[in-house]
Amino acid sequence: MKGVILCGGLGSRLRPMTLVTNKHLLPVYDRPMVHYPIQSLLNAGIDEILIVTGGEHAGDFLKLLRNGKELGCRRLQYAYQEGESGIAHALKLAEDFSDGGRICVMLGDNIIGGNIREAADGYRRQTKGAKILLKQVEDPERFGVVRFEDQRVAEIIEKPKIPPSNMAVTGIYFYDEQVFDICRTLRPSARGELEITDVNNHYLKRGILSFDTLEGWWTDAGTTESLYRATRLAAEEGANKLNAGLVAA
Ligand code: DAU
Repeated sequence: MKGVILCGGLGSRLRPMTLVTNKHLLPVYDRPMVHYPIQSLLNAGIDEILIVTGGEHAGDFLKLLRNGKELGCRRLQYAYQEGESGIAHALKLAEDFSDGGRICVMLGDNIIGGNIREAADGYRRQTKGAKILLKQVEDPERFGVVRFEDQRVAEIIEKPKIPPSNMAVTGIYFYDEQVFDICRTLRPSARGELEITDVNNHYLKRGILSFDTLEGWWTDAGTTESLYRATRLAAEEGANKLNAGLVAA
């Protein structure tokens, strides 16, 4: 399974910082934001990775990551998204890279404390379809949110005004080769974007969407508050590893 990290978009909620750089190059504790999803994929045994980015700072990803060898990538490729027409629009650029195989997609501003290896292994055993990872949150209206019926996912609603649950859909998705055909059927939402929630609902309607609950902490880092939270959580984790002797002082 290959990995795709989506790092396009305007990062408008992090202005003025994002006037001079791409959101995913901003620091989170001791590293640029994009290092975290790369590490999460590597921890799951996924070392062929595509970075999709855009805008005028796209070249800085190459300066920072080069061929990815230093971080442990076997292969690191780049794709350029023209415009900011949504997550599923960015995902479409991964079709050639995926080469008819399965992919794990991570949003470049999603940062986790745990490991997605178990979820990835579970998806490797799944015969077809997609898998999403859910997390309980206090502010579900900011995310894609699950409506449950009899403990089964009945619907995913993007940024609901009245959330039907507090289970958010994290920005970590597993897809089979059908995802690109599904992306071709999408129409822009009210905010003018091709929505990843529409992709997930498509799989759901066909009964081939599974879900796991993500272990460990999770946050996005796309607003000043969540960027600060990400930095704090990453710093605490760094301190815990240091105390446990897992990293050198
Ligand atoms: O963080 C999880 C949430 O991410 C999910 O719960 C939502 O269902 C999903 O829609 C998304 O919501 P956001 O509003 O937080 O997405 P945002 O527009 O901030 O984009 C998240 C990442 O996706 C961003 O860091 C880079 C990538 N992206 C986004 C857009 C709009 C692209 O690569 N290209 C784009 O055009």
